[in-house]
Amino acid sequence: MSENNQKSQSHGKLLVLTPGMGAVGTTFIAGVESIRKGLSKPIGSLTQMQTIRLGARSENRSPLIKDFLPLVDLDDLTFGGWDVIPDNAYEACKRAQVLKSEDIEPISDFLKGIEPMPAAFEQKYVKKLIGDNVKEFTTKKDLTDQLRTDIQNKIKETGAERAVMVWCGSTEVFMSPSSCHMSIEAFEEGLKNNDESISPSQLYAYAAIMEGVPYANGAPNLSADVPALTQLAIQKEIPIAGKDFKTGQTLMKTILAPGFKTRMLGIKGWFSTNILGNRDGEVLDDPESFRTKEVSKTGVLDTILQPDIYNDLYEDLYHKVRINYYPPSGDEKEGWDNIDIFGWMGYPMQIKVNFLCRDSILAAPIVLDLALFLDLAKRKGKKGIQEWLSFYFKSPQVEDGHIPEHDIFIQHFRLKNTLRVMGGEEPITHLSENFESYT
Ligand SMILES: NC(=O)c1ccc[n+]([C@@H]2O[C@H](COP(=O)([O-])OP(=O)(O)OC[C@H]3O[C@@H](n4cnc5c(N)ncnc54)[C@H](O)[C@@H]3O)[C@@H](O)[C@H]2O)c1
Repeated sequence: MSENNQKSQSHGKLLVLTPGMGAVGTTFIAGVESIRKGLSKPIGSLTQMQTIRLGARSENRSPLIKDFLPLVDLDDLTFGGWDVIPDNAYEACKRAQVLKSEDIEPISDFLKGIEPMPAAFEQKYVKKLIGDNVKEFTTKKDLTDQLRTDIQNKIKETGAERAVMVWCGSTEVFMSPSSCHMSIEAFEEGLKNNDESISPSQLYAYAAIMEGVPYANGAPNLSADVPALTQLAIQKEIPIAGKDFKTGQTLMKTILAPGFKTRMLGIKGWFSTNILGNRDGEVLDDPESFRTKEVSKTGVLDTILQPDIYNDLYEDLYHKVRINYYPPSGDEKEGWDNIDIFGWMGYPMQIKVNFLCRDSILAAPIVLDLALFLDLAKRKGKKGIQEWLSFYFKSPQVEDGHIPEHDIFIQHFRLKNTLRVMGGEEPITHLSENFESYT
């Protein structure tokens, strides 16, 4: 099919479901509506703004990704979500204080129409969160049944053909996989027995996969990254991805660290501190939720720098990450990094980064891209963990035995080559056309 033909076709209405309608969830929804109304541009979104080179450079073919692949058009997106707090998307958006009133008011009617469904929630999994918009239940199996009915009803109500789910809920407490996570049968038994080690986010993931809905986890907590749910995703032929949106400081880290490594510069220390005042920051003030985030944030440098191979450069690297809840900062987080690097003959140098970032502004286009790419992946017959979406995550979920890739440039290279192959084109190696003559 020609590139233009693919574009002019409709690819059906897609329902994007977000468990969690807080800062990220509502900034995403508001942004899409603002773009649809011509009030903003989709900045930060690869699916909307990036081109993809096809064939040799001399062929001069570089369509937009959205013109090359049959992605759902923004006009065909519809939204639904769950939250512990009963605010509609307008109220939640106001409360999150990410967007200015002048950006919210023109789309207020649209946002007011999106009411959160009652959440599958228990406070022991997010200690600092209190809210009464929650489902009643006797067993966790009841909860997954209710979530499945919600999904079916929302699809009908919105007239969507398909749905995808992106977890935008709070970071749950740190948990390791337990025996009930080891197989589909054990998990389903655990649902009936109210096994403590099954968290709410896992209930959503299970319900999504059972309903044929791709699932991505934007938070660092354990969710679909357990054997029971990855096996279920394969069995039901559903693509899944995770975890923890790569925004802010970790985004900077995975941009900078590959740069130091390509130049064979050593690093002695990397101290990162975050100052943030939004609800996510408050949740992360709880040591158990912070532990989940810490594991996700500190993992990136090791795989990028490979200290086992480059021991002269990175063996002694001291990596420290801190998160400080400071309400006056709101969603306008500051990420301070002090990086102690060294060069020729071991001479030390220092780099200081002060990233005054807006977390949800960086996360919203990730939610959009994940929704559109996961929907595409499903239509292309992909199932299980989608490693090519690692680009979007702090802790990329990978197949057993695979090593996660954190280098953003390698992640990007892989993402684009996957898209090329999905669109029936050859992957690109960046070797010149006459590379055979080099041998
Ligand atoms: N903002 C970013 O850049 C960024 C980056 C990486 C990861 N994340 C993660 O994304 C998630 C959302 O971030 P945020 O800033 O929007 O936080 P937020 O606190 O503003 O929103 C989270 C929402 O999830 C709701 N929630 C919690 N448990 C729920 C459940 N079981 N069912 C339904 N709703 C539930 C909360 O009530 C809250 O409204 C967090 O886990 C955060 O760690 C955010």
